[in-house]
Amino acid sequence: MKEMKRFAQKLEIASLPTPIHPAERLSSRLGGPEILLKRDDLTGLAFSGNKIRKLEYCIAEAISREAEVLITCGGPQSNHARATAAAAARIGLRCHLVLNGEPETVPDGNLFLDLLFGAKVSLVSATDLRDLEISMLEIADSYRTAGIKPYIIPLGASDALGSLGYIDAIGEIVEQTGKIGSIPDRIVFPCGSGGTLAGVVAGCLVHGLDCRVTAMSVAFPAEWSSGKVAEIFGSLRERFIPDLPEPGGKFEVIDDYIGDGYGKASPGLISFIREAASLEAIILDPTYTGKALFGLKKEIEKGNIGKGERVLFIHTGGAFGLFPYRERFLKEFEA
Ligand SMILES: Cc1ncc(COP(=O)(O)O)c(C=O)c1O
Repeated sequence: MKEMKRFAQKLEIASLPTPIHPAERLSSRLGGPEILLKRDDLTGLAFSGNKIRKLEYCIAEAISREAEVLITCGGPQSNHARATAAAAARIGLRCHLVLNGEPETVPDGNLFLDLLFGAKVSLVSATDLRDLEISMLEIADSYRTAGIKPYIIPLGASDALGSLGYIDAIGEIVEQTGKIGSIPDRIVFPCGSGGTLAGVVAGCLVHGLDCRVTAMSVAFPAEWSSGKVAEIFGSLRERFIPDLPEPGGKFEVIDDYIGDGYGKASPGLISFIREAASLEAIILDPTYTGKALFGLKKEIEKGNIGKGERVLFIHTGGAFGLFPYRERFLKEFEA
């Protein structure tokens, strides 16, 4: 790959560049646009998905500040928390996760892996993000008191520093698709805490990629996600890229496929995940990638995404989040 401009120090622990695969069977089943899969589920480091691109920057900063323990937060099935635990294990730092939820009788999926990677887990009962932030600050204080230097990574590593990972990812995409003559007309991916979205939009501006950006929200109203982009753009300008233009109309957030809420899967979604697996041998999860690709299918059906378009779908990982749903899938197989 061509040497890319770096806006901050980064710890190179991901396997990059990730490949781009044409999803020919899926494209033809959807009777629509050419679909390319950017396989960010293959970023390595115990299948860390999109999160490792962000963590490469956050952890580089943690190391430069001589941190000894990484503290972050999420839900019990947080991919971000698990990726942080894996990265901490890989580089020999401690990890403390503040997870919002009840203890599981038998820890499953990501929570099981958090423990396998040696992270300390505090389960809390938080009503909002602020509660989680307060818990992280208290835990950080207790480490300081014990003479151990903490470093807090925000929810989803979704701040200006983390979003640099997706500015790089767009540089990677521009180079790869330029080489094979397949520059996308549109990029589609799941949007949770908003850092990936902010990075993709900023990346298109930084790397001169003129394409539509469609983020499928899996949790928050579109307005919230757009606000998050504005917030991250503000701090990107302050900290790293003073001349970063306004995101303006460069992106759209679709919040029509959240369904009953974060992590809630409809029967239609469950059968679509199965269909996609049988067509492309990809593992989608009901919380993020499944919902986003399902949203893409629906937008094609509604005619909002043109049949002549070339769509690059970023597969952001999250496979372990599938396992806690296996009973739902087994029922679907029986049916
Ligand atoms: C698999 C997966 N995809 C997408 C996302 C969304 O990324 P972001 O939080 O940057 O919006 C997440 C966030 O946790 C994730 O785990």
